[in-house]
Amino acid sequence: MRRKLVCGNWKMNGNLISNAALLAGVKAGLSHAKCEVAVCVPAVYLAQCQAVLSGSALGWGAQDVSAHASGAYTGEISVSMLQDFGCQYVILGHSERRAYHDETDALVALKTQRVIQAGLTPIVCVGETLAERESGQTQAVVSAQLDAVLTAIDAADLAKLVVAYEPVWAIGTGKTATPEIAQDVHAILRAKIMQKNVELAQAVRILYGGSMKPDNARELLAMPDIDGGLIGGAALNVADFLAIVQSA
Ligand code: 13P
Repeated sequence: MRRKLVCGNWKMNGNLISNAALLAGVKAGLSHAKCEVAVCVPAVYLAQCQAVLSGSALGWGAQDVSAHASGAYTGEISVSMLQDFGCQYVILGHSERRAYHDETDALVALKTQRVIQAGLTPIVCVGETLAERESGQTQAVVSAQLDAVLTAIDAADLAKLVVAYEPVWAIGTGKTATPEIAQDVHAILRAKIMQKNVELAQAVRILYGGSMKPDNARELLAMPDIDGGLIGGAALNVADFLAIVQSA
């Protein structure tokens, strides 16, 4: 049985004061949570998370990491630096990074390798644009994105992988994939993973992301291959985020 994971992706939002209220509110609301819960915050606030969340049920992580271990890479942050701040999760290959920072499937695969080797949990995002969906390319696009990662990691490490299906057309648009549309893609993704190892594929959590809100979370999370959510906008509001956790 896969334990559901609800992870907030704060993106480039927050400040010390608003974060303090958000973290305290979520932490306080988690006492009965049956699922795993985390927030992925801007890297400069990881120290704040470590100070506030250590020993609590709320995990924390980053939104990206360098593929390099150390050295002359101005502006980059390494996996070991994330570990210094107690990070457990790293979002990789988010569509915003693919679109605005030219991240390729190959780079995302390399980063995934690094994160797994360090013992952290990668949350690898895949998803098609509206144009790709409308031209019938959804399966080909998400399969290629996932294949790059599956090729890069050892079969034995499969269970450490978390995948997030985030249709680009549903991110920040208020247009959620229907549970059936999402389930179809999640099943495609799991079938791909099964080609690598049938047994371990059952342990891989596949999250849905894209306008997940309190009013649609329950239906989405009830689908057999939807193992949690990667939450953008709704993760910035204590009540909304906790309502989604409650659904999971
Ligand atoms: P929204 O929930 O704001 O649509 O964002 C989803 C997302 O991109 C999470 O990574």
